Amino acid sequence: MPEFDFIKAAYGLPHDRIPIWIMRQAGRYLPEYRAVREKVSFMELCHSAELMAEVTKQPIDIFGFDAAILFSDILLPLEPLGIKVSYDNGGPALTPQVRTPDDVAHLKTYEPADEMAYVLAGIKEIKKRLDGIVPLIGFCGSPFTLASYMVEGGGSSRFAEIKKFIYNHPKAAHRLLGQLAEQTGRYLKDQINAGVDVVQLFDSWGGILPLDAYEEFSLRYIKMAFEICKTEGVPRILYLNNTAPYLKQLAELDCEVIGVDWRTDLNDAMNILSGKTIQGNLDPQLLFGPGKLVHEKTLELLETVAGKDNFIFNLGHGIQPEALVDNVKLVVETVHSFNIKRDQ
Ligand code: CP3
Repeated sequence: MPEFDFIKAAYGLPHDRIPIWIMRQAGRYLPEYRAVREKVSFMELCHSAELMAEVTKQPIDIFGFDAAILFSDILLPLEPLGIKVSYDNGGPALTPQVRTPDDVAHLKTYEPADEMAYVLAGIKEIKKRLDGIVPLIGFCGSPFTLASYMVEGGGSSRFAEIKKFIYNHPKAAHRLLGQLAEQTGRYLKDQINAGVDVVQLFDSWGGILPLDAYEEFSLRYIKMAFEICKTEGVPRILYLNNTAPYLKQLAELDCEVIGVDWRTDLNDAMNILSGKTIQGNLDPQLLFGPGKLVHEKTLELLETVAGKDNFIFNLGHGIQPEALVDNVKLVVETVHSFNIKRDQ
């Protein structure tokens, strides 16, 4: 029997309190995080086991979340492919961009256990500092989301380049996605071997695809990665931004938890994905609003899932730098006290 409520909830097993964590919980909305970032760059932070452990633990100490998430970034495993990733000017920038079949053929292959050893060392340090208080979540970007960043060269609003690429060069796209799926699956497995208790794949951009293209270019490669890292007792979470159109397709995926975005109806998710645990889905931008509304909306969400063992509380996407710390405290308190109410 797993010991943490978080792990029990991930398997839909009976437990005492609804667990809560939030995506991007270690980040710039926290003054304690900004204080560390005043001294070092984001890249330096991601390469120091000591600092990774310090910022991973900050939101656990401040808010009492039920899980910690490894401090790293989904784009770092692209560097050993021969891609330069920079975070210096706001959003990430990747060079050179991958735009042709030839570009795909020239990517390097690598052993995640070697090239990502600095992250695995960070995981060991984090586990030491967490000292068994909460489980640790490891993560990767989904193959399609990573490919989008590689082709677009950074963030995007129209995703014109990645769509041009998959429609004009489907063979090369499949070759790239296959390489990313294998690398992602093995990297997640290495994270598990280093000590993470749960893994999450972030499919931030798969939700821009039509249903058939989602199956062909994203879901298929998520399946491959999850098959490779499947480990007894280590739940696998898929977060998909813009979840609602794809719920039926996700029902077929072999994984334990689906993270849903804030536009998705929780009852629909619970019904269509019966047998899986649902994670979500408060609107991250609600945390810019007044406390009274934050409290009401949190309670409303909790009422929808009252008495269910297959639910993990989260936001519907990552927390944003403008989020108010007091609102985060309020959400955690509301979730934790609601659990006591449920038990009465
Ligand atoms: O606390 C945590 O959740 C753990 C760490 C984490 C980061 N990024 C740290 C980070 C995680 C899990 C991620 C995931 C990530 N990174 C995703 C998937 C989640 C999502 O939002 O859809 C994506 C798409 C990225 C790519 C990325 N990294 C972007 C777009 C940016 C810039 C965005 C911004 O807010 O400026 C980053 C940089 C980044 N990754 C920061 C952090 C805390 C900000 C860096 C800083 O301190 O300046």
